[in-house]
Amino acid sequence: MSAAESDSLRTQVALIGMGTVGTEVARILTEKSETMTHRAGRDIRLKRVVVRDATKPRNVELPAGTVADNIQDIIDDNEIDVVVQLIGGIEPAREIMLACLAAGKDVVTANKALICEHGDELFAKAREQGQSIAYEAAVAGGIPIIAVMGQSLTANQIVSIEAILNGTSNFILSEMLAEGRPYEKVLKEAQRLGYAEADPTMDVDGTDAAQKLVILSQLAFGTKVPIADFPREGIDKLDLLDLQYARELGYIVKLLAVAKLVTGQLELHVQPTLVRKEQPLAQVNGPYNMIALTGDELGRAWFAGAGAGGVATASAVVADLIDTVVGRTALTFRRNDLWSERPSLPVQPAEEISRRYYLRFMVDDKPHVLADIADILGRHGISIASVVQHETPETSPDEANGNCVPLVIMTHTTTEGKLRSADEELDALSSVHPPHSRMPVLD
Ligand SMILES: NC(=O)c1ccc[n+]([C@@H]2O[C@H](COP(=O)([O-])OP(=O)(O)OC[C@H]3O[C@@H](n4cnc5c(N)ncnc54)[C@H](OP(=O)(O)O)[C@@H]3O)[C@@H](O)[C@H]2O)c1
Repeated sequence: MSAAESDSLRTQVALIGMGTVGTEVARILTEKSETMTHRAGRDIRLKRVVVRDATKPRNVELPAGTVADNIQDIIDDNEIDVVVQLIGGIEPAREIMLACLAAGKDVVTANKALICEHGDELFAKAREQGQSIAYEAAVAGGIPIIAVMGQSLTANQIVSIEAILNGTSNFILSEMLAEGRPYEKVLKEAQRLGYAEADPTMDVDGTDAAQKLVILSQLAFGTKVPIADFPREGIDKLDLLDLQYARELGYIVKLLAVAKLVTGQLELHVQPTLVRKEQPLAQVNGPYNMIALTGDELGRAWFAGAGAGGVATASAVVADLIDTVVGRTALTFRRNDLWSERPSLPVQPAEEISRRYYLRFMVDDKPHVLADIADILGRHGISIASVVQHETPETSPDEANGNCVPLVIMTHTTTEGKLRSADEELDALSSVHPPHSRMPVLD
């Protein structure tokens, strides 16, 4: 075979970033090169790897001279057709991706923050250049949810997405409940086990799940919703007591990311939510993700698995790379509704979101407290479905809590707006110790 013929059966690839995910991508491409060649129908050659510090020891052995620290080497190399971009954050990742696209290279990425915030600009550039961006690994790591939504469910209009999209938060919630341990202690354990980063802020405050929800909403509804435009709460302020009361009531608390069509509007939120314990979403424990999709033709379907981690994420990155080499990505990329010209759907104002709610107050154990709370809720049009207050011993009031006890109320369906309007009055009651807890319910 001539050199020209063998080149025509080879795709040269570059990797930018060789950290947690990049290392596993390089390992798979190196260790399984024959299988990858078979699946892609052509040789996939990892020609160059660019990192910040090329002198750092790496866990994958690559031919001498492969690892470098100059990104321009990749951009200027006309033999490189596909760039796997695995550095985090916005800059310089955004500039690098734009430069790769402008240089006529297809891109594969796992960078959810970048796709969430600058997807419109990046996808427009790729379309203008006739290139593609594959981003399966950006949402739910090893679960092929982008392929499911972008290819397998195209007969459907997705009507709802209810998902656990952050494995760190799910691990912490599962452990808190199973071990009866408070948030701070379990977070430390999660960091020790490698399920939480040294700085876990984006995971535990709901940002990571919200970024992924924005990407899924784009794909399902063709609408860009900035993160600031919908309610987002994390698990970092959750009290173990609320997880335990929820369980007693037949629910498990999950950090749930929800996007659904409600009478022509998009309802979106990321919040700790009480999920009925019989539901599949309630049964996902540990550092896993699950996405429940409802399509207008299919009905409901559930997809679960490892949502992060170097190996699971690399599995999605390499699959995207093969799809790009084979030409499948280009076909679906052109048609997908992601950051398209389709008119956006309006986002439902947070005040109008309508659900049942769990409320927990710390109250003085004395007459008329429940009546006062019920009166305020009633005046704001909020109807009570049930009340839980455990008996305290008559003879030995809880000295440590100053005779203060939890009072839990489940409401009938109401709106976030009505509850917000009642907040101030409730917390101003002399027998209530503010703030009270509030979580939505998914029945
Ligand atoms: N880790 C996961 O489980 C996971 C899951 C899903 C998605 N993701 C996403 O995947 C991406 C990569 O994550 P990761 O965990 O692999 O990150 P990481 O471990 O921090 O690795 C980042 C890599 O990028 C390189 N790098 C950083 N800035 C650079 C620059 N300016 N020029 C060249 N190279 C640069 C670093 O080089 P040095 O090695 O020399 O420092 C390192 O190799 C992120 O967008 C992340 O959100 C990660």
